Amino acid sequence: MLFDVNPKVRREDLYDREGELEEILRALGLGERFITVYGVRRVGKTSLLKVALREARVPHAIIDVRRIYFEYRSVSRSYLYKELASYFTQNLSFYNRLGFKVKDFFGRLKGFHVSEFGVEVEPIPQISFTDLLERINDWCEKKGVRFVLAFDEAQYLRFSGKVRYDGVFAWCIDNLPNITIIVTGSEVGVLRDFLRVDDPKAPLFGRYMREVYVSRFTREQSIDFLVKGFRELGRNVKVEEIEEVVEIFDGIVGWLTHYGYYRAVRGMSHKVALKEVFEKGSQLELMELEKLIEPSRNRYLGILKAVAQGATSWSDIKAYLIVKTGYIDDKTFTQLLKNLVKYGYLVKENNKYRIADPIVKYLVLEKL
Ligand SMILES: Nc1ncnc2c1ncn2[C@@H]1O[C@H](COP(=O)(O)OP(=O)(O)O)[C@@H](O)[C@H]1O
Ligand SMILES: [Mg+2]
Repeated sequence: MLFDVNPKVRREDLYDREGELEEILRALGLGERFITVYGVRRVGKTSLLKVALREARVPHAIIDVRRIYFEYRSVSRSYLYKELASYFTQNLSFYNRLGFKVKDFFGRLKGFHVSEFGVEVEPIPQISFTDLLERINDWCEKKGVRFVLAFDEAQYLRFSGKVRYDGVFAWCIDNLPNITIIVTGSEVGVLRDFLRVDDPKAPLFGRYMREVYVSRFTREQSIDFLVKGFRELGRNVKVEEIEEVVEIFDGIVGWLTHYGYYRAVRGMSHKVALKEVFEKGSQLELMELEKLIEPSRNRYLGILKAVAQGATSWSDIKAYLIVKTGYIDDKTFTQLLKNLVKYGYLVKENNKYRIADPIVKYLVLEKL
């Protein structure tokens, strides 16, 4: 169902993304070792990743780094292992179909064991991350397969304490031919900073990587997506309503999906469904936004409110901010503004700023 609000797993539930899927599959087919997937929040990165890895029929694990961070407030090795183990547990039947013997594999791996409940990690796993990768690589080499390890919302790996994952990734790319690493990120700028891809002294600098950009749907795609989604559920919806929704949600498929779900599955009217997307959607955005603006909450909020209320230029936003929160020097102000672009909350085009997501705009104006 197109309007399922969970990340899509099956290709038939994924609208379009043919080009992006093709690109990931081609990279895997060529044995490429490092793939990055960029795109704003709720544009469909996780869905693309899940569908691609199923389609590729390769052994893989997807680690939801953001979830780990928000659950535990840190991203330590043992939490990563726990997530890895639970991914295998949840996908046992997929691995069986592939002929990947999960029991056999983890049975030999220090720190992990397989019980009747699935794959489990010992409380203090003895195996280092690089050792683990090496073991996976060896195992794959014997079987003649490739393992794909995906870090979803990988920018949160920066909260991992002392392990430098950019270094680990570079090492893996150089030494482990049977492993492909995929990283996705909503905060494109933050992820690129974290990977230090533009820093000549950093381990990943200058390395070949496949970069896949997941963009917003065009107006035509958004309309077609809604029409197909409603048709699939046997619902007829007025053209004017569809156009209004497409206008509001600006190509972000996540919000279109929520609207479709409220409308066609929950049976709400157009107005109520729209309101629900804003209410529920802003709740979904709140926690992450709060976390990111925490270091300078009043000023960040001041900037977001200024832009939400229509200020677009550097100087107008600054003037608004000074009225709200007092004096700020140019350098600090510019830095905060840049950070909001990096985090993906603001978009800068032709030297004008706007809020990237209508739900965030609503959140900023109505709830904060
Ligand atoms: N191409 C697509 N076709 C149908 N639904 C999609 C598509 N991409 C994303 N969705 C839906 O949009 C929502 C957000 O998708 P998700 O993959 O979680 O985005 P992201 O990982 O970029 O935040 C989910 O409800 C998902 O089912
Ligand atoms: Mg995601």
